[in-house]
Amino acid sequence: MCSKINTFGSMDNRPIGIFDSGVGGLTVAKAIAEELPNEQLIYFGDTAHLPYGDKSKESVRAYSNRITGFLLAKGCKAIVIACNTASAHAYSELKKFYPKIPIINVVNPTVNYCAEKYDQGKVGVIATKGTIQSRIYPRKIVKKNPNLEVPQNAAPLLVPMIEEGFFNNNISQTIINSYLSAKNFEDISALILGCTHYPLIKGEVERFFQGKVDVIDSASVVAQYTKKILKKEGIASEHKKGENLFFISDFTESFEETSKLFFGQKIDLREERIWD
Ligand code: DGL
Repeated sequence: MCSKINTFGSMDNRPIGIFDSGVGGLTVAKAIAEELPNEQLIYFGDTAHLPYGDKSKESVRAYSNRITGFLLAKGCKAIVIACNTASAHAYSELKKFYPKIPIINVVNPTVNYCAEKYDQGKVGVIATKGTIQSRIYPRKIVKKNPNLEVPQNAAPLLVPMIEEGFFNNNISQTIINSYLSAKNFEDISALILGCTHYPLIKGEVERFFQGKVDVIDSASVVAQYTKKILKKEGIASEHKKGENLFFISDFTESFEETSKLFFGQKIDLREERIWD
């Protein structure tokens, strides 16, 4: 049941817009599809500009703004930034540009989850260079809970490695082990997978820590938070309007292959060259 009536009636079946630099954000889309089966999703993966992790703040902001415009033109009622790098660089600006639209990022729900769950100790973060340089996780977590330490390391090889389908093999385990052996990760109680590509290597990360470290992947935390926001805003849907739609800005067969792994099933990827 919706908590309040909106201009679309008590049932708002407009789609939810979700975007990422590529297909990694499909891990978040998958969790949202499972948590909110009555919602239609419109996904946009900016494969023409992948990876965002190495781009300047200004570029990531410009891309995020253009994509949000595209999703709103498709009638989306809320936007989920399914990318940590875009959440770090573009969230505040998008909120300013679109004050009436609920905009959800992947960082804040994860920060709240950690600050509440851990009283003290070390919560580590691995993410792209852009997210690490923004220091968004340490700043926000320590502000909420000053008893926590937040060591962090950029892991720039992981996105291309995962996009190329390298996981659960010797090569991926070697690269993952090398990042996780960092000195500042000694004695961590938890590790945030601060990139939406990383849920695919969650098992390998858990194996490295032999189950002694709580490995946090934000996809399900963000899906639950999205549900809460839709309810609070009175814009949850009771009946799914139509099939989920998936757009990417540059189509290749390899993206089609990888998208199956990220979303857990075959999806129909459509190319939309919004930059032309
Ligand atoms: N999926 C993006 C994130 O969560 C990273 C991928 C990229 O570098 O584009 O930060």
